[in-house]
Amino acid sequence: MAHAIGLDIGSYSIKVSFLKEKAGKYILQNIGVADISEEPIDTLEPEKKNVLIQETLKRLIVEAGIKSKDVAISLSGDQVIARYIKLPYMTREELKGVIRYEAEQYIPFPIEQVVLDFHILGEVTDDGQKKIEVLLVAVKEDIVNYYIKLLESVGLNTVLIDIDTMALHNSFDANYEKKEGETVAIINMGAKFTNLSLIDEGFTRFSRDIPIGGIALTNDIAREFNLGFSESEKLKREHGGIIIESENVILTRIPSKEDKKVRIYSCISNTLGKLVVEIRRAFDFYESSSKKRNIGRVFLCGGTAKLQNMDKFVAERLKIPVEMHNPFNGIEIEKKDDPAFIEKVKQYSSLLPVSIGLAVRKIK
Ligand SMILES: Nc1ncnc2c1ncn2[C@@H]1O[C@H](COP(=O)(O)OP(=O)(O)OP(=O)(O)O)[C@@H](O)[C@H]1O
Ligand SMILES: [Mg+2]
Repeated sequence: MAHAIGLDIGSYSIKVSFLKEKAGKYILQNIGVADISEEPIDTLEPEKKNVLIQETLKRLIVEAGIKSKDVAISLSGDQVIARYIKLPYMTREELKGVIRYEAEQYIPFPIEQVVLDFHILGEVTDDGQKKIEVLLVAVKEDIVNYYIKLLESVGLNTVLIDIDTMALHNSFDANYEKKEGETVAIINMGAKFTNLSLIDEGFTRFSRDIPIGGIALTNDIAREFNLGFSESEKLKREHGGIIIESENVILTRIPSKEDKKVRIYSCISNTLGKLVVEIRRAFDFYESSSKKRNIGRVFLCGGTAKLQNMDKFVAERLKIPVEMHNPFNGIEIEKKDDPAFIEKVKQYSSLLPVSIGLAVRKIK
């Protein structure tokens, strides 16, 4: 069974991973990460944006020594509609026959223009009636065609299209043991979006893409320091961080108003606050809906999770244990004796869960 290259084209950076499978174990072959542009790509002309994505892809293919042409990609945010619905009990085959008809009421545009997929999550009894819980996923056909063409233009063949939240779940399954009866959250803090998935009994039962991420933080810094986007981005990566009140750094040292770190933290804290409120709201909604369990652990990933102390901040605000989602926790690394490669893996590990989640999918 073969594996495609896991290709995560985000709104700020592109991530690739590829692995092979040997005796039931995954072995990482190579990775590659590159920013598409210094500016957020949504602010660019569509043509310019396409050229930048093509150039970045070509560079990554060479850098990561990619020989295969088959790629698995994923979509998120406003590109995807995901709905959790309940339907009268039926088999998978039966559902296949009626899914387009059933989906129509959940999709805000003509059903002829979408590509549909579904997953049966489980069976429930509701008011004495046997029902199935179904995750419905819809993507507009023109978005699918856009990516297929774009990848074709750099010699790549799209063999699988997934959604970020599902890819995150697959990376989690490949890397962590399930604990009986535990619900976990995976929070992928990207540039434009923060993807949130709740996994319970082996299924993603809730997912949401919150439209807050690293671009919003960089914009806060640009406003505060009166700088352009790319300078603000640099400032964020070099000096950005969250000042945790429970840490005594702030108590032993009175910060001056000019202290960059303090100034950055104070200008991004409003946006960070909004983000955790959205996360808390999603958790509350899930936990309060019938029979759903409390969220026991949070796994963080994404470029924005690299902001210093983000894990501590989320743990403190949500009052839930937080750890970084390590996409190589259960994956062997082929070049484990190459210190430069190991360093690269460490540096980029929080950016790679989506692409690893795509790379572990089997293709025929
Ligand atoms: N060291 C760092 N400190 C703070 N932020 C960082 C750091 N490194 C990267 N980022 C931020 O991470 C973001 C990119 O992360 P990621 O690659 O996960 O997003 P993306 O997949 O491109 O976006 P999206 O998923 O929203 O479409 C950028 O906003 C960038 O500023
Ligand atoms: Mg992303």
